[in-house]
Amino acid sequence: MNDPDDLFTTAARAMTRFRASVEARPVAPPVDFDALRDGFGTALPINSSPPEVVLNDLLKAADPGITATVGPRYFGFVVGGALESATVADMLALGWDQPAFNATLAPASIAVEQVAGEWAKELLGIPATASVGFVTGAQEANTVGLAAARHHVLAARGWDVEQGGLQDAPRVQAVVGDERHGTVDRSLRLLGLGTASAVPVRTDGNGAIDVEHLEEVLTEADGPTIVCLQSGNVNTGACDDLERSCALAHAAGAWVHVDGAFGLWAAASPAFRHLTRGIEHADSWGCDAHKWLNVPYDSGLVFVSRPDVHAAAASYVAAYLVGSGQGTLGGSDFVIGSSRRARGFAVWAAIRELGSSGVAALVEHTCALARRFADQLGEAGAEIGNEVVLNQVLVGFGDDATTDAVIDRVQRDGTCWMGGTTWRGRRYMRISVSNHTTTEADVDRSVEAVLRCWRP
Ligand SMILES: Cc1ncc(COP(=O)(O)O)c(C=O)c1O
Repeated sequence: MNDPDDLFTTAARAMTRFRASVEARPVAPPVDFDALRDGFGTALPINSSPPEVVLNDLLKAADPGITATVGPRYFGFVVGGALESATVADMLALGWDQPAFNATLAPASIAVEQVAGEWAKELLGIPATASVGFVTGAQEANTVGLAAARHHVLAARGWDVEQGGLQDAPRVQAVVGDERHGTVDRSLRLLGLGTASAVPVRTDGNGAIDVEHLEEVLTEADGPTIVCLQSGNVNTGACDDLERSCALAHAAGAWVHVDGAFGLWAAASPAFRHLTRGIEHADSWGCDAHKWLNVPYDSGLVFVSRPDVHAAAASYVAAYLVGSGQGTLGGSDFVIGSSRRARGFAVWAAIRELGSSGVAALVEHTCALARRFADQLGEAGAEIGNEVVLNQVLVGFGDDATTDAVIDRVQRDGTCWMGGTTWRGRRYMRISVSNHTTTEADVDRSVEAVLRCWRP
């Protein structure tokens, strides 16, 4: 007879063993993908298996394909290393198996979202009156924020988009930076506005919006308008001037959404807060918790200055959903999902563990390490392709082919992992320092590996 205590303890031990091993194991070992997939089995199992057998098989099959993203030398994409408190909070959330629809169904899940949401707003400098949705990540946050924007700008023209859709609606324009993240375009598609609704605004050398050009674009804009700004360009870390841009947008009657997947967290640090100056003037904001706040995947936050607009765009009610449409808004009213994972526990745990000083220290520490990468690689003769304003660094090693070859060798070397990108027509190695466990020694060791791969 299976003992659940043994099973869960074995799983937890396997997880802690993995975490202890990330320091030593290659960050992203080469994977034979077909063999990896076959390791999970080929034919549909006919007979049942005891859970401990399933656990063993899973551990064995998955191990060769687990990347050490949680480790201190993973610098690809924008990946944080899940904090221990946030990880155990998520483990409990899974164990409690709460469908976090509303407070009738899952009271603790909704209560913790309220507290964690208040804390997040205070950390980020978002007005306390804003509503908060706990979403899968910045993609869902952008979609919900832009849905609120769509509701508002059309309602201001007398159009109820939730009822009438977009078929005969006034045409909505989405004024966006030409270096916006690809998720913004996907949100525009999903919301039926289409990518053709995007009116691009020029950006400066580091990818922040050119405010003079924004002003010109807004002068010409007529009809319902949404301005989508960015805090933290995924390549360079550049942050749009929120203060001036919000003032211009509001003077033109537009709604402002800020995509701050990782960069919004700069607001939590007194040293970097100036990059998000004016944040409180926007109308909706999206960010991730699974990136810079180091919460496990998946976890993001959407904030809307007008809870009524947020709920009008996102919520729904049904007779059988006891408690829906009554009392305080929250939970599923502010997201796309209905029966959803209880994400609030992990966000609460991360902020509770770090405190506001710890979140500031995390931002400052990782930005200092990004600077250290740029200084050391720059001194060694590599080209630093961006102005390092946050935790992102672009590094070139001569021509594009050489840069790609260095990236390839670094990825196979296993000391650290960096991806590649194209920025302003050139290939670069892209370094993102987002993990609270990364140390100066990790950066030094990674720089050595990169230089070894560049000039063997
Ligand atoms: C600026 C920006 N917006 C949106 C996203 C999408 O975030 P996610 O994949 O967590 O939904 C990212 C991801 O890196 C990003 O950097």
